[in-house]
Amino acid sequence: MRLLRTLTEPKLRGKTCLVRVNLDIKDPSRDSLRLQATLPTLRFLFKYGAKPVIISHRGRPKGEDAALSLKRAVSLIEKELGQAVEWRENLRFDPREEANNVAFAKELAQGADIYINDDFATSHRKAASMVAITEFLPSYAGLHLEEEIKNLSHVRDNPDYPRVVILGGIKIEDKIGVIQKFENAGTKFLLGSAYRMSPEALPRHADIVFAKDGIGGNAWQDIGVKTTEEYEKVIAKAKTVVWSGPVGKAENAKYAKGSQALAAAIIKSKAFSVAGGGDTADFLQKEGLIKKFDWVSTGGGAMLAFLSGEKLPGISALEK
Ligand code: 3PG
Repeated sequence: MRLLRTLTEPKLRGKTCLVRVNLDIKDPSRDSLRLQATLPTLRFLFKYGAKPVIISHRGRPKGEDAALSLKRAVSLIEKELGQAVEWRENLRFDPREEANNVAFAKELAQGADIYINDDFATSHRKAASMVAITEFLPSYAGLHLEEEIKNLSHVRDNPDYPRVVILGGIKIEDKIGVIQKFENAGTKFLLGSAYRMSPEALPRHADIVFAKDGIGGNAWQDIGVKTTEEYEKVIAKAKTVVWSGPVGKAENAKYAKGSQALAAAIIKSKAFSVAGGGDTADFLQKEGLIKKFDWVSTGGGAMLAFLSGEKLPGISALEK
């Protein structure tokens, strides 16, 4: 894979660089992890005299939809950088983006010299701006994408054990691939309050711990005190922690205590810590804890697919 980091000033000066970033942000008028993730590559390009052109998507529009414009997010980026940046409107306003349409990719590539994929969170989608575009321009992994790959590969392939994987959120089906990939003697899975699934539905040999008590009535909205204490003890001994999904309905302060306690336990431990997924990132951002983790991934579905060992089309396209 060609890395943007290896390009020097003579190779970049005066070059127009199409930069695929992730501006799929719920509230684009506020700072966010995804917005911050765009900055290192853009700064790098400006520093070496290149001209970046931002391309991205937001939401799942059916045709043009002013409510899903990228304008606000781009103005925040410009404020952070202290200069104007060229950009194109939400790529998904054109259905050819998601269809990985070659003609659309060719149009996008027009006038550009280099393509940079810096959008890990969409790399599991076979879209024109992720895959077809690489047929038309020399293509590189941006600084953020490179970091995502490095940190997620480390916890997936080469972790220090014991490894603890915290799986929260609602849909266990989304997490089974990760359990299958990681189930081995040194990995323990701690499950959030929403899961009371019969163990037969889960990989048989995995070392899975279910919540033993919960708060918020019969349908638990958060893990209870006993479970929190048990999970804290497991985390204290971990050398690697991967966290995907708050363990309760953390968007409601009443049910955030379990996730807050586990975040504190992870930070206190000596483990290499990686968290990710939209809700987990939002929770850590709200708590002001992003920087206390070794890595917080911008990816939701992309992170789970990557950790499960799937090949992501947007990354494979850069490896050709
Ligand atoms: C995400 O939020 O996971 C990415 O931006 C991809 O968005 P999508 O799930 O709408 O393809």
